[in-house]
Amino acid sequence: MTTIARGPSSAAAEITSAAIASFDGCPDPRLRQIVQALIRHLHAFASEVQLTEDEWTRAIEILTRTGHITDDRRQEFILWSDALGLSMLVDALSHPSANGATESTVLGPFWTPNAPRRGYAESIAESGGGTPALVRGRVLDQDGRPIAGAELDIWQNGDNGLYAVQDHEAPEAHLRGRFYSRDDGSYAFVGVRPVPYTIPHDGPVGAMLEAARRHPWRPAHIHMIVTAPGYQRLQTHIFDSASDYLDSDAVFAVKRSLIREFEPRAADDPETPPSINGRWCLVENDIVLSRLSE
Ligand code: BEZ
Ligand code: FE
Repeated sequence: MTTIARGPSSAAAEITSAAIASFDGCPDPRLRQIVQALIRHLHAFASEVQLTEDEWTRAIEILTRTGHITDDRRQEFILWSDALGLSMLVDALSHPSANGATESTVLGPFWTPNAPRRGYAESIAESGGGTPALVRGRVLDQDGRPIAGAELDIWQNGDNGLYAVQDHEAPEAHLRGRFYSRDDGSYAFVGVRPVPYTIPHDGPVGAMLEAARRHPWRPAHIHMIVTAPGYQRLQTHIFDSASDYLDSDAVFAVKRSLIREFEPRAADDPETPPSINGRWCLVENDIVLSRLSE
């Protein structure tokens, strides 16, 4: 009987140990910790589901398609992280307790840098459509003191469900803007009432959702990133309390504290801002930032 010589790493456990040990000399302790834990968990996952060669080949094809579909305007890797709940897990790990500060949520794939700077209560809509929404409030610290000069980077979709980066008909700055809080912490901008929309589902993430019979919808929301020197960067949403899908967001990003009423107002309401003609909505939304720890 012939015996087949087995290499030192032929048994599953030996392969895992050898792969982990190959990073023992990594000089960066955090990188070493992350890669070694990644190998341990990936190997445990493959063993748990008894991953076949065909399945692994298909997974590589999916990753390859994810790379091919990703460009400056489309970020399928972020979408995987969002649709698998990983973005919200990282959010929860990074912000274990809000301690009175406004809660954070996903960034999503549609933020782009260098939104135009706009003045107090200006509109971010550069073309028509939708019900205007005046969003106003104050930026405060955790003791209720106003924060002046905070930057609020705002982006949202239009009544066609699309963000400017997805909408080739829309001006690049449409429904995007950077605003600054005044001395008393107050800020205001005019957007449009957002609508529920589907996350991009014509790529590999969409194929996964369909295979799993999951829907691709997100409830209506407006995005903002708020920054101020000495305070933690806040990435958050304002969700419309009247929206569908608040209980089944495709990316698990709804937090109860971020839901606001979009109160209907008549065209002749005394508070109607100059940039609005016709009916509109008012959203009151204070923002509380956490101080950076020393
Ligand atoms: C968004 O809200 O823009 C978004 C978040 C996650 C995935 C897709 C879109
Ligand atoms: Fe969004």
